[in-house]
Amino acid sequence: MANVAFYGGETVPLEMHKVRIVQKLSLPPVERRLEVINQAGNNTFLLQNADVFLDMLTDSGVNAMSDQQQAAMLVADDSYAGSATYTRLESKLRELFGMEWFLPTHQGRACEHILAKVLVTPGTVVPMNYHFTTTKAHITLCGGTVEELVTDAGLAVTSTLPFKGDMDIGKLTAVIAKHGADKIAFVRVESGTNLIGGQPVSLKNLAEVSAVCREHGIVLVMDASLLADNLYFNKTREDACKGMTIREITRAIADLCDVIYFSARKLGCARGGGICIRDRALYERMRGFVPLYEGFLTYGGMSVREMEALTVGLDETMDEDMINQGPQFIAYMVDELSKRGVPVITPAGGLGCHVDAKRFVDHIPQSQYPAGALAAALYIAGGIRGMERGTLSEQREPDGREVFANMELVRLAVPRRVFTLSQIKYAIDRLAWLHENRALIEGLIFYDEPEILRFFYGRLKPVSDWQERLVAKFRADLGDSL
Ligand code: F0G
Repeated sequence: MANVAFYGGETVPLEMHKVRIVQKLSLPPVERRLEVINQAGNNTFLLQNADVFLDMLTDSGVNAMSDQQQAAMLVADDSYAGSATYTRLESKLRELFGMEWFLPTHQGRACEHILAKVLVTPGTVVPMNYHFTTTKAHITLCGGTVEELVTDAGLAVTSTLPFKGDMDIGKLTAVIAKHGADKIAFVRVESGTNLIGGQPVSLKNLAEVSAVCREHGIVLVMDASLLADNLYFNKTREDACKGMTIREITRAIADLCDVIYFSARKLGCARGGGICIRDRALYERMRGFVPLYEGFLTYGGMSVREMEALTVGLDETMDEDMINQGPQFIAYMVDELSKRGVPVITPAGGLGCHVDAKRFVDHIPQSQYPAGALAAALYIAGGIRGMERGTLSEQREPDGREVFANMELVRLAVPRRVFTLSQIKYAIDRLAWLHENRALIEGLIFYDEPEILRFFYGRLKPVSDWQERLVAKFRADLGDSL
């Protein structure tokens, strides 16, 4: 996809693909949307997809596949052990990352499970640029702790910094000095850092992190789930990468790491996951867990069809016209929303557009979940499903106190090659309308709060009749004629 200048002056993220399989969508009327969001306890995870017009919950497992991926799925070699399909996947990973050893898993968190089981022991520390929910859970379960070392500037919601995912090298050396290198289980760098808004890591920073790790004999692990977006930003924002192909940048990144794991629900636009390992001894320490938890070594819980699609998807990820689709749509959304005064994370990152609920609904206290309330309001206003990434996604302290999140975000994921630009424009429009009417939005309170992972299953109700008033205003202003 190219940012093509139109004769009229506009610059548009033009799709470099055509759509040949479609899925019918429906947009329930606003009164129905009010009804179903309340049936779902104001939790977008609990909505039925049939009631959703634009599903922007995640890009996990929902990116569009190419014709080549679909074609490859038909020639999969379905055997329990030693399938040719697996060999094709293994060879592709070796070709791209230059690491000799590979372990397949059913998805990204399974890689984290195995890595934590082998490398994390009680009392050890895992420094990382920023945590991801499942990563942290696995490390904590094995008795380790997580230290987040992203630069302070990376946490600023609005910024012009091109690589907000970079790790602070000073903080890294300080953590190693404090605990001693033998207490560092491994260092983890997450590409396209998810929870701070899909923000990338520079090749330069990774090289510095790698040098520190090698000096101290510490294993450097990359979570490459969001590598595709990161590669696009390396290519377009980092001078040293401008003359390199995506393939060359990929190899330069891999050469700095000891282990690369990924969720193939994101990387490669398929489903599954895997761990690439440079060192044979480390591979052998992890290998036994694959048949135990995932499946035999030549499928690891993935279907052969998914493995074929992944092999092709990984190769297609080396095409700049493919990996720029997400970031360019997201940048379009971020720019258009900013123009309309809607507060969003800047600069635009990968994964999705992140709306800053702290500023959007600054009258809602964190104890009433501003990002959760905004996500519910956006569903009412547009049938758009986003994901709360704020206090609701945190866990209470053992004594019941709330942990207030650093950021209150509504993530609007942009799965690759799924939406058209007019759908993106619709999302922008509904958000802009909601922003104009933000004073109507009020908070939520739990009426059913599970102890763990409350954001998945918890149910909340509005603190007043604000949702009915929002619906009335919507009816008066817009109706629902698309
Ligand atoms: N690492 C990162 C950076 C992720 O974003 C995810 C998943 C995982 C690991 C776990 O992978 O889902 O295949 O087990 N992120 C999804 C999301 C869930 O919606 O952002 P998984």
